[in-house]
Amino acid sequence: MAYLVEDKRKVTTHRLFQMKQEGKKIAMLTAYDYTTAKIVDSAGMDIILVGDSASNVMAGNMTTLPITLDQMIYHAKAVVRATQRALVVCDMPFGTYQVNPTEGVTNAIRIMKESHCDALKLEGGVEIIDTVKKILDAGIPVCGHLGLTPQSINKFGTYTVRAREEAEAEKLVSDAHALEEVGCFAIVLEKIPATLATRVTKELKIPVIGIGAGGACDGQVLVVADMLGMSTDFSPKFLRRYADLNTIMTEAIGNYITDVKSGDFPNENEQY
Ligand code: KIV
Repeated sequence: MAYLVEDKRKVTTHRLFQMKQEGKKIAMLTAYDYTTAKIVDSAGMDIILVGDSASNVMAGNMTTLPITLDQMIYHAKAVVRATQRALVVCDMPFGTYQVNPTEGVTNAIRIMKESHCDALKLEGGVEIIDTVKKILDAGIPVCGHLGLTPQSINKFGTYTVRAREEAEAEKLVSDAHALEEVGCFAIVLEKIPATLATRVTKELKIPVIGIGAGGACDGQVLVVADMLGMSTDFSPKFLRRYADLNTIMTEAIGNYITDVKSGDFPNENEQY
C-alpha cells in the first residue's frame, strides 16, 4: 500500500533535518481529535499539526483568532493520546505569545506540560524573534510560520497570496534566515509564490514545509478536513481533494435516517 512506512520509530526534529539532507519529502497534516489523529498517524504521517485552524474547522469561527489556550491544549491532548509515530506540533493561539517573551514562554511551557506535544508553531518573523528564542532556550522545539499568517488576517484584510512584491519577499527571506539562526527546527510557508518558496527552501538548512507554496518545498501540509473533502465551501487553487467525504457521509447519514424512520434499524441481530 502506498501509505505504509517502513520506519516505525517516533519522528523527531533531528529525523526531519536528516530527511531534508537526504532529499526525502516530509508529509504533514492537521488533526484536532483522537479518532482522526489515530488514522492520520497509522497512515504514516511524519508530522501532525494541531493547528489553530481548529477554530474554523472544529468550532465554525470565521478566523483562527478566537481559539483559546485551553482549547488548543484540549485538542493537542487528544491528538497526542492517539499518536505513536508522528511528531505532534501544536499551534500557539493568537494572543498567547505576542505580548512579550516572558508571557510567550509561560504559555509555551503550559502547552508542553499539559498536552505532552512535541513542539510548537508560532506565526511571524523578526517581530517575535525574542519570544521564539526564549521558548527555544526553555528546551521547546519551535516551527516558524511565514507568508500568509492567518492570525494577522485583520492586518492583511485578505487571504490572498503573500509576498508577491519584492519588499515583502525580501522581508520573508530575512525572517526565514532569522528563524533558522535562532534555532527553529522547521518553517511553514503559506500561500506565497512557488519561486520564492523554492529560494527559501534552497537557502535554509532546516526543512521548509509548504501550503500553497509549490512543489519545491521539503514537505507539504494541508488541513485534514479540506483534503478529505468534508468541507465544500473552501476551494483554493493549492488544495487537492483526496476524497469526497462530504458526499460519503451525507449518503451514509441519510441511509441511517431512512432506516430509523422505516423501522429497518435495528434488526433482530442488532439487539440484545
Ligand atoms: O492552523 C493550521 O492549520 C495551519 C496550517 C494551515 C499550516 O497553520
